[in-house]
Amino acid sequence: MKKLYIETYGCQMNVADSEVVASILAEDYEITHSIEECDLLLLNTCSVRDNAEQRIRKRLREFKALKKQNGSLQIGLLGCMAERIKEQLLNEEEVLDFIAGPDAYRQLPKLIKESSCGTVQFDVTLSKTETYEDIIPIRYDTNGISAFVSIMRGCNNFCSYCIVPYTRGRERSREPNSILQEVTDLVNHGYKEVTLLGQNVNSYYWKDDNREISFANLIEDAAKISPELRVRFATSHPKDISDELIHVIGNHSNICSYIHLPFQAGSNAMLKRMNRVYTREYYLERVATIRRIIPDCGLSTDIIAGFCGETEEDHLQTLDLMKTVEFDSAFMFKYSVREGTLAAKKFIDDVPEETKLRRLNEIINLQQQLSLKSNQRDIGKEFEVLVEGVSKRSKEEYFGRTSQNKVVIFPKKDAEKGDYVQVKVESCTAATLKGKIV
Ligand code: SAH
Ligand code: SF4
Ligand code: F3S
Repeated sequence: MKKLYIETYGCQMNVADSEVVASILAEDYEITHSIEECDLLLLNTCSVRDNAEQRIRKRLREFKALKKQNGSLQIGLLGCMAERIKEQLLNEEEVLDFIAGPDAYRQLPKLIKESSCGTVQFDVTLSKTETYEDIIPIRYDTNGISAFVSIMRGCNNFCSYCIVPYTRGRERSREPNSILQEVTDLVNHGYKEVTLLGQNVNSYYWKDDNREISFANLIEDAAKISPELRVRFATSHPKDISDELIHVIGNHSNICSYIHLPFQAGSNAMLKRMNRVYTREYYLERVATIRRIIPDCGLSTDIIAGFCGETEEDHLQTLDLMKTVEFDSAFMFKYSVREGTLAAKKFIDDVPEETKLRRLNEIINLQQQLSLKSNQRDIGKEFEVLVEGVSKRSKEEYFGRTSQNKVVIFPKKDAEKGDYVQVKVESCTAATLKGKIV
């Protein structure tokens, strides 16, 4: 059998897609974890910010040497960059044999075969219906405990800064039985945690002759498969996080008390420009409702610093919103213009680089304090923790996560990977909790 090496960049959806790709190619290729011995090298790429793309271009240049050593090596580029800059890549990066966009993975066997004759092949067609629902992903890089399950693809929101709707195409939901079957199979194989994935899972919607299924219905059905299974989800757009969904999370102990709820910017002027279609007041109301219905709910967010036209006052409102909500953690970015987006067409990227950086650093420093504070509040409390594996720092310790998605490190005692244990938190840093099994 030939050997396949896949390198994955970008979001969790790309991780899930790489597993689908491994499955599509499984007849001819088996996965290797050694890049030196592969016959086929795939790079699953991300376009969300310029630095993501620069990293991948650098990687492609490194592959030139590999190709010199091994004349028969085939290299393919998958994912969002394939969609965004196909022509540019073909001209500039000579190492590529083929390019496949996120909806073209079923064509991979054909692209690989045809490119082996020496002509570069590509397929970047986007689909309105493709969800790969019948493909059982090969989880080649798994701890055997947690898995991603893709429930929808694409995005219709067109936040003005964001390239995703262009690289991933229109939003579409996957047939619900195929999702529940995949979760059931994972449970039967000993998995203890699934994360249901989509760019905006709250707008999951399936309708056919005899059913109408919302995300709240779907996650409830997934949670009922086994009380031993933890169910998580990502990502939620604030505009459609419904009371119904919040109640479902609150009512099921195995749906994790954790919501990733990106707010992006704290001022209404910026939110409007970003086309996020909610206000600061609406966002704060959603947070208050979440905390009323799920008092122990963990909250994290995404924040962009220095979007077009952002004033110092707008920035202060971002800091203020962070302080008001006290997020447990956050992913924080500096605005990066993406060609082809609404913002690139309509607005000027006018915040100077050093101002963007300074604002981003202020955001990061504040979040550092908030994360520490959040973790300090947990000292003395007990949490149910799913043991995910041995800690990187010490063989004598495990790491796992609380329902709220916080990482906890604790001495092994007699627990096994995949067990649920009660851990009492004794100390913390801003990044992790430390404790003991009780
Ligand atoms: N669908 C998800 C996010 C996908 S992209 C959601 O709506 O929450 C992940 C994050 O990248 C976004 O939440 C945003 O904070 C950031 N991002 C997207 N485009 C960006 C850009 N052009 N510059 C900087 N950050 C960006
Ligand atoms: Fe991008 Fe907005 Fe869609 Fe998220 S919801 S993927 S930020 S367009
Ligand atoms: Fe990146 Fe595409 Fe995901 S742009 S964040 S890999 S959807």
